[in-house]
Amino acid sequence: MVPFNAMDLLLTDARIATMAGEDYGVIDDGAVAIAEGKITWIGPRSELPATAARTTRSLAGRWITPALIDCHTHLVFGGDRADEFEQRLRGASYEDVARAGGGIMSTVRATRAASADALYAAALPRVQALAAEGAGTIEIKSGYGLSIESELKMLSVARQLGEATPLTIRTTLLAAHTVPPEFKDNADAYIDLICDELLPEVVAGGLADAVDAYCESIAFNADQVARLFARATDLGLPVKLHADQLSDGNGAALAARFDALSADHLEYSSSAGIEAMAASGAVAVLLPGAYLTLGETRLPPIAAMRELGVPIAVASDCNPGTSPICSIRTAMMLAARQFRLTPEECLAGTTRAAAQALGLADRGTLEIGKRADLAVWNISHPRELAYWVGTPQLTEVMLAETL
Ligand code: NIG
Ligand code: FE
Repeated sequence: MVPFNAMDLLLTDARIATMAGEDYGVIDDGAVAIAEGKITWIGPRSELPATAARTTRSLAGRWITPALIDCHTHLVFGGDRADEFEQRLRGASYEDVARAGGGIMSTVRATRAASADALYAAALPRVQALAAEGAGTIEIKSGYGLSIESELKMLSVARQLGEATPLTIRTTLLAAHTVPPEFKDNADAYIDLICDELLPEVVAGGLADAVDAYCESIAFNADQVARLFARATDLGLPVKLHADQLSDGNGAALAARFDALSADHLEYSSSAGIEAMAASGAVAVLLPGAYLTLGETRLPPIAAMRELGVPIAVASDCNPGTSPICSIRTAMMLAARQFRLTPEECLAGTTRAAAQALGLADRGTLEIGKRADLAVWNISHPRELAYWVGTPQLTEVMLAETL
């Protein structure tokens, strides 16, 4: 551990939600010491050992939480789908639109046509919007390229966003998002292409931190996903799955079978699926923005998740089709309102559990040795974070990269 006399920054007079224990892990009148981008001490100010910090700052009673983590987004994309939004409001279903060549494919056409620079310019303000709400880590998926060249383009843009900002950007290869027209009626050959050509290239270029797939009747079946996951595992990449969003395709159990970091959506998952996730340690990522936008009525099996101790994460799912919501605070608010998550579950869902869903053991709670990614709030209690939306409460985000 870094000795105290090497401390770079000491924050005092703070109220802290460490998210590491019961009841938000609250420390009243706390202090946090930071050195070399890590927390070197945290606790009640009365117990603070004698120190020699380079800089000491009083937070005047403001709250500190872990910086927020949006663990599921598709925020690199071309165009938008406001036309389909209108069609759906007139009665078309998401599957109807997809089968008629719209849906994900419509964004694929726009994304293929866009240059990397144009995609970057469109995505940067989305990253900034999440950061302005307290996010320090964001996951970004590919999946609107569906060709070797365009998937690589999307992942490179996501990597570039990580290099250009102090945020951590985690990238996920979602080439198995839907079957591209070039492989119409031959989804197996497309999975072969991903396994044999795209994945090795992605791994060689260090372009992805995980592999995701969409297991659904309008996308890929369980055998195709299993083949992809086996190859990803061989190449050393962890997996995640868009599972049981529109129907129960045993996605939760499939994800668990491959030790997935997470299974996401889960509205139609069976209790056997949730049991399998509990046994494997997969995180359940809930996406209330997609639930709202698609007008879903079937709730994810949250009681089973709680009972079996499956960690619950909450994410924006920012994408132009099912969740045109570039706001992690809105996702937290919707998880509370629609899914009846408690405000504490909502905050754990965008800190502790979200870190776990990305396989990041160094963040998500405020504890000695963890990364110094903190959000500072002008609130009277952290339960307000799932309660207010669009209210200016964030006073600053401190990220290890900038300390
Ligand atoms: O997370 N479910 C599939 N993928 C996205 C939607 C993508 C789209 O419609 O563009 C989701 O909801
Ligand atoms: Fe998604």
